[in-house]
Amino acid sequence: SSLPAKTPITLRLCGPRGFCAGVDRAIQIVVLALKEFGAPVYVRHEIVHNRFVVEGLEAKGAIFVEELDEIPPEHRKQPVVFSAHGVPKSVPADAQSRNLFYLDATCPLVSKVHKQAMRHQKLGRHVVLIGHAGHPEVIGTMGQLPDGAVSLIETIEDADAYMPPDPDNLGFVTQTTLSVDDTAGVIRRLHERFPNLTAPAADSICYATTNRQEAVKQAAPGCDHFIIVGAPNSSNSKRLVEVALRAGAKKSVLVQRAAEIDWDDFGDIAIVGLSAGASAPEVIVDEIIEAFRLRYEARVELADTVEETENFLVNRELRHVPLTAQ
Ligand code: F3S
Repeated sequence: SSLPAKTPITLRLCGPRGFCAGVDRAIQIVVLALKEFGAPVYVRHEIVHNRFVVEGLEAKGAIFVEELDEIPPEHRKQPVVFSAHGVPKSVPADAQSRNLFYLDATCPLVSKVHKQAMRHQKLGRHVVLIGHAGHPEVIGTMGQLPDGAVSLIETIEDADAYMPPDPDNLGFVTQTTLSVDDTAGVIRRLHERFPNLTAPAADSICYATTNRQEAVKQAAPGCDHFIIVGAPNSSNSKRLVEVALRAGAKKSVLVQRAAEIDWDDFGDIAIVGLSAGASAPEVIVDEIIEAFRLRYEARVELADTVEETENFLVNRELRHVPLTAQ
């Protein structure tokens, strides 16, 4: 006797998706540091917000800590890597005072935002940072300037209530991984209230955030469900779920692994959107496609928008280390 025929389903796979150039670079920095200096290599904070990535690096000899004082004295000569999200200025200063050897894996596009915040301040402007309180990137950007020099705005309501020290001398920057549409709304409101508010020289939201949101937006109409691969603490991944829902997907969910998928949610549906946040590895996307193939007659439909060619060089100290071959 033969098995009952599987139900057909279309997986609409978004591109670009998954790793951005900044995440790719940060992971390379840890891998190359392990090769060049041997284990252990310390990493301050999750190098990127993905447990699968973190566990893979731990298996190679990386040790993750939240603060520098967790590094034992006997390992002071081993490198410590700062995560892609960036760090307050106090962190490299602290590393120096502890005689630690650090490698900064801050994404160059986050560093660019840091520079623009500093530039606003140099030109006498109070800095408004649009972002999510408590996110490491926000802590890092605020920590480029002295306490009190930066005000954090999270929402339109915050923009309405904000009382700046000098309404005519304001400059803003944003977190790199925000919702493009929500942020435009917050900036519009701030501009209405403070017409002299100065924008940064270039957009703070990065190309990867913009492209992943745009691809999901185009793919979402007609989707019965939309799966985003990403971690619950990954800002850019969470935004993709919101974008999918707003653009017309009937449901959307953030999952870290195929095992988290609630199959009861996928009974009688025809089209499932699929994308991944900037810190989510492609192997998990493959794992999810395989999980669908076990249960459905799954057909993958490619929904590509733009091609990404960004590629960031690793730190000078590591450029001579070959990436391939153990
Ligand atoms: Fe950088 Fe944007 Fe990725 S800021 S780490 S390229 S999400």
